[in-house]
Amino acid sequence: MANTILVGAQWGDEGKGKIIDVLTGKADIVVRSQGGNNAGHTVIQGGRKYILHLIPSGILRRGKICVIGNGVVIDPVALVAEIEGLRKVGIEIGKNLLISDCAHLVLPYHRALDEQRELRKDHAKIGTTKRGIGPAYGDKAARTGLRMADLMQPDVFTKKLQAKMRENNSILKALGARPISFTKVNEDLLAAGEKLRPFVANTVVYLHRALQKGKEVLFEGAQGTFLDIDHGTYPYVTSSNTTAGGACTGTGVPPHRMDRVVGVMKAYTTRVGEGALPTEDPAIAGMLHEMGREFGATTGRARRCGWFDAVATRYATMINGIDELAITNLDGLDRLDPIKICVAYRLNGEILEVPPSDAAQWKRCQPIYLEMPGWKRSIEKVKKFANLPNEAKSYVRRIAELTGPRLTMISVGPARGQTLFL
Ligand code: GDP
Ligand code: IMO
Ligand code: MG
Repeated sequence: MANTILVGAQWGDEGKGKIIDVLTGKADIVVRSQGGNNAGHTVIQGGRKYILHLIPSGILRRGKICVIGNGVVIDPVALVAEIEGLRKVGIEIGKNLLISDCAHLVLPYHRALDEQRELRKDHAKIGTTKRGIGPAYGDKAARTGLRMADLMQPDVFTKKLQAKMRENNSILKALGARPISFTKVNEDLLAAGEKLRPFVANTVVYLHRALQKGKEVLFEGAQGTFLDIDHGTYPYVTSSNTTAGGACTGTGVPPHRMDRVVGVMKAYTTRVGEGALPTEDPAIAGMLHEMGREFGATTGRARRCGWFDAVATRYATMINGIDELAITNLDGLDRLDPIKICVAYRLNGEILEVPPSDAAQWKRCQPIYLEMPGWKRSIEKVKKFANLPNEAKSYVRRIAELTGPRLTMISVGPARGQTLFL
């Protein structure tokens, strides 16, 4: 394996956690480069289900080093809770975790502001995870954020926090929300900081030295291409670069050290929160929800569902430079016949092969579908590509053809063993 960037090619929840777990077998180091605990990556291991939010999914495999890079925004209290939760179920966390000292902090006023902005009627509701992600990245861009390095210096941190809380409490009051008590927040954060201290390091230097020694690194993307702050359905996006470039800026590893990009796509489309989803179909959503599938790993919200959108994923392939394609949740289509694939959009009488840049226009796009026959049987026990029903083989081959990259993995169930390689 080479240094690999793994990205979601749709609107998040593509099954990145499952594919990361498969790829981690051959990697030495797994790195998160963006997002925060808005992410929820599910990994099934040894019959147990784990949902990772801030810690790279590689933590579940012994001997792998996990790094939370500078581009991630960290809620220190949530991170401590995640570490303790994993330790409770027997996952070892010690020298195998490093946290960048440059990572920005998500603080209680970020969460409160996130919630307030979502409530306001004069503000487009995004349907955020309410984890404070937008306000934290906002502070980072405004150069007023606090970082992990600040938290490692309690006196400096307390002073900076006090000033920030004064400012943010007056904003919260103006919005009609309750101000937050400084003393308790400061105590909780300093206590979390002490628990995190052993992990905090200059992760840029660590990664460069590891690469010099020939270690192989896997970059675990969070969210998905169309939640990217630049390339997504703005403003219905998250606040980081979820696309391949984010792996460089969010870790300090230069572009020429990246060897391949793996794109993860669900065999259909899902989205949580507001914004365009041209292939949305309540009938598919109803069927998947009835099967107990497609509920959010972080917030538990029912995901919106639709047919596979080759217009969007072709564009995602372009933006990320996806070399290899992993298709997940193929078994989710077991009962459907026929199965539709969106091959183009119709907007104002014109045929579009790439999505419009404007989110409102994207929302008005009508999908043009081709139909393929379904396989109408369970494929979750299939172990080899050759043994898939012919209809399923044709379906995934057509997706690969329409989107561009080489198809290398197909997932037919949530467990590591339910992966077919080509
Ligand atoms: P991520 O955020 O991209 O890591 O994806 P999530 O974990 O939020 O959501 C993907 C969901 O699909 C999780 O419940 C996974 O366990 C599940 N999953 C992943 N691949 C497959 C698959 O091929 N088949 C089935 N049935 N479930 C899958
Ligand atoms: P993983 O890594 C799916 C969505 C939210 C909302 C928008 C902005 O598990 O794929 P935010 O809280 O980031 O400000 O919310 O982005 N969103 C996700 N949707 N999967 C995720 O992560 C997501 N992280 C954020 O639902 O629409
Ligand atoms: Mg998820």
